[in-house]
Amino acid sequence: MNAIALLTQEHEKLRPFLHSIAEACSEKNTGALNQALDAAQRTLSVDLDHHIGLEDTVVFPRFAQSIGAEMVEVFIDDHREIQSMRDRLYSADTSERHSLALALEEMLQEHMDREEHMLFPAATNEMKRELLELESD
Ligand SMILES: [Fe+2]
Ligand SMILES: [Fe+2]
Repeated sequence: MNAIALLTQEHEKLRPFLHSIAEACSEKNTGALNQALDAAQRTLSVDLDHHIGLEDTVVFPRFAQSIGAEMVEVFIDDHREIQSMRDRLYSADTSERHSLALALEEMLQEHMDREEHMLFPAATNEMKRELLELESD
């Protein structure tokens, strides 16, 4: 499968969970926030770590060879920040949960937007299609 199509599909699976988290935060509704965080837990842990692992170890190193390491470094740095924010959020008490949830939601949406609108198009323009193919698993 094409790597960019797969990564974009995974972003689309993540976004509705982030949307519910943002909604609960904007309503300052702690019950709804806890519910949204519970519902998102697997997606924001196992699935997100898998997604980030694929970007960090398989796809972005290929991008780097074509469009330069500087282009991908900032995204890899973001990943570390996103994962540490996520870990802090899930171990935070109620008083901290709202601000951490909002910060994670904003950072992740913005990160995915930059991947989809800047990084992925740059790679698509510069790279041969076969270099973007992943072995299907
Ligand atoms: Fe990413
Ligand atoms: Fe991504």
